[in-house]
Amino acid sequence: MVKKLFIRKSLDQLNEQADSKHNELKRHLGPVNLTMLGIGCVIGAGIFVLTGTAAALHAGPAIALSFIISAFGCLLAGLCYAEFASMIPVSGSAYTYGYATMGEFIAWIIGWDLILEYLFGSATVAVGWSGYVTSLLADFGLRLPETICQSPFIYDAHGWHATGAVLNFPAAFIVALMTTLLVVGIKESAKFNNIIVMIKVVIILLFIGFGISYIDTHNWTPFIPQNTGTFGEFGWSGLLTGAGVVFFAYIGFDAVSTTSQEAINPKRDMPIGILASLIVCTILYIAVSLTLTGIVNYKELNVPAPMALAIDTAGPGLAWLRPVLKLGAIAGLSSVVLVLLLGQSRVFFTMASDGLLWKSFAKVHPKFKTPYITSIVTGCFAALFAGLFPIGLLGELVSIGTLLAFVIVCIGIIILRKTEPDAPRGFKTPWVPVVPILGAIVCFAEMASLPKDTWIRLFAWMAIGFVIYFTYSRKHSKTRQYRER
Ligand code: ALA
Repeated sequence: MVKKLFIRKSLDQLNEQADSKHNELKRHLGPVNLTMLGIGCVIGAGIFVLTGTAAALHAGPAIALSFIISAFGCLLAGLCYAEFASMIPVSGSAYTYGYATMGEFIAWIIGWDLILEYLFGSATVAVGWSGYVTSLLADFGLRLPETICQSPFIYDAHGWHATGAVLNFPAAFIVALMTTLLVVGIKESAKFNNIIVMIKVVIILLFIGFGISYIDTHNWTPFIPQNTGTFGEFGWSGLLTGAGVVFFAYIGFDAVSTTSQEAINPKRDMPIGILASLIVCTILYIAVSLTLTGIVNYKELNVPAPMALAIDTAGPGLAWLRPVLKLGAIAGLSSVVLVLLLGQSRVFFTMASDGLLWKSFAKVHPKFKTPYITSIVTGCFAALFAGLFPIGLLGELVSIGTLLAFVIVCIGIIILRKTEPDAPRGFKTPWVPVVPILGAIVCFAEMASLPKDTWIRLFAWMAIGFVIYFTYSRKHSKTRQYRER
């Protein structure tokens, strides 16, 4: 019985699933589209919303270093993702990798955990989108009443409170819109995504290019402000806490691996998509944070739209950039919502194809060739969460869920090298086991820096997952049936 819990999917079975006879999804995505998907998912609320807060409260100008530390953890995990993705060309990302290495039960834990990353992630970014939209409308004199653009609940040290708002409508709206796009088709979604990625990268380059001449280097001294006496408030510990906060900004590069089944040449292009998007984003983040803290003193940056504040501080010379930046952020955040929703529906699709979730989740639309039922179910839940909950609470849950997936993927590579040493790989993680062990340690340390309440929510979420696994999934698993063939 215990042995059956850890039944593994063989590579043969995975490859059979990926070959064209069984693959109902269309293979449309090349290396450029995949890198664009990665960037589309990564650059979002993290850089447009959270950087200012992290600099003001934790790291000061050294937030640029926090970005480097955080990128280091992601790069280690990214190298492990790349090996898996180049070997296992099936949708489902870490869930599928877990199935191949650690067995069904761990795969279930990862799949269930990925919901925190993708579904809750899309809701989090949708809340950030709503903030930018309401602020842009206000700049044009159109003030939406708070009752329809704020979360009805907040959570603080004293527990839950009602805010008096009804629903965050704009947040729910953007989720609904992106879900519609996803149902219509992966090619259409990728095209839309490419346009948006261009816009947001151009906006960021404009910010850096025009902002650079307004930098006052006095704002960079001291580069690492002295610690206040409390852990995490500036100094070296602030730098680390800052890294934990800005981790959110990197989430999403792994979403590339959820679309393996739609990639033209997954063995070569998956690693390119994952690593290239991570590298491009790291460079942009470091440049943005240096420009930001160079124009505005870090103490003033605890605002919802720090880049807009920097433009205001620079003076009338940059005033033209303000609406452009907000529009770019709005477009940019929409593509993050899109790719996270895409990732979620592909994970559900794969789990359902394996029999671990209800059959209808694996249904592909006869005309659009997309897993439309999972896309719609995902969209409904994401819209509900986005409409009801505040960004901080959602964001921490997303971070802990993602970090857990990273830890498991890193450990998975070590196991895979033992169980499948000779299987062909398009890409090999360098310095195994040093890279995966270090990756697991760095990601676990970042999990440990998150608040206790977030850990409790993670356990509660997992408990719900176990109930579903033991009452439904275990009995319907197709891998068991395949083994008995
Ligand atoms: N990395 C994504 C963002 O910053 C989730 O919005």
